[in-house]
Amino acid sequence: MSLVLVVDDGAADRQLAQAYLAGLCDVRLAPDGPSALQQIKAEPPDLVLLDVEMPEMDGYEVCRRIKAGPRGRQLPVLMITSAEGSDDRARALEAGADDFMAKPVRRDELVARVRLAARLKALYDSLDSAEQVIFWLAATVAAKEAPYDKHPQRVAESARHLGARLGMPEVARDALYRGGLLHDIGNINVPDAILLKPGRLDAGETARMQSHVLIGENIIKPLRSLSTLLPIIRHHHERFDGRGYPDGLHAREIPRLAGIVSVCDAFDALVNDRPYRARLPIDHALAVLIDGAGHQWDPEVVELFVGEMPALQRLGAA
Ligand SMILES: [Fe+2]
Ligand SMILES: [Fe+2]
Repeated sequence: MSLVLVVDDGAADRQLAQAYLAGLCDVRLAPDGPSALQQIKAEPPDLVLLDVEMPEMDGYEVCRRIKAGPRGRQLPVLMITSAEGSDDRARALEAGADDFMAKPVRRDELVARVRLAARLKALYDSLDSAEQVIFWLAATVAAKEAPYDKHPQRVAESARHLGARLGMPEVARDALYRGGLLHDIGNINVPDAILLKPGRLDAGETARMQSHVLIGENIIKPLRSLSTLLPIIRHHHERFDGRGYPDGLHAREIPRLAGIVSVCDAFDALVNDRPYRARLPIDHALAVLIDGAGHQWDPEVVELFVGEMPALQRLGAA
């Protein structure tokens, strides 16, 4: 991340954000919306930290104008809302914000969010326009299921982190990151009535839901540049004991990258609210993983994941 623009009418809050980000990136400051928009035009930043409550032009309006501008899509906006209220969050999303956090801003959380946004921005900048559409589509599909969280991004970050801990080369770490972002893109073909159903799925619904791995593979296939991600997308629901889908692969037959994403995906789903289940506490979710090691998941990956939990939390990936 090279340049972050902090937009806040409070001088103390601006300086605090600047101090928190010192050493991580260059920081520019803007005291209000109009001057922020001017600065963005003159020298486009890589990320905008945007306060909601400002006189004259509030953060929502500033965000809308940023997103309506040229290259606005590619400029991530992290909104700083005053409370944890979901109304603020909904309004921020409506205005096009990419992420939000509540005041008071904590240093570790801000640093983690900026790092996450930086990696995503770097990825987007490296994509051609067809690829960008694919990643944007995957994020949009994921937001249907869980509007306020960043499931694909956390899966991507944690899978990439595990790949690094395993000493995997950059291409594999990159595939884990991209595969984490795209793993559920096939959900685009799963009706909302199934995706958002609060209760158990019947046999027909289950089959339809499971088809997301094949649909996802078909969406990605034409893009040769993403071919390394195909095994992740097809096989992230295989089980170590061979009772998974779509191919019922066993243990070491399961592509390694898919086995890694599978653990990260399961953990993230467990610790976040889903239409059919409330979130579990972290300890409980880790116990579920340990219990399923050797049955549902590769025991080596589970062991690594559990050991890396503190690091993953620091990264903002768990
Ligand atoms: Fe999936
Ligand atoms: Fe998932």
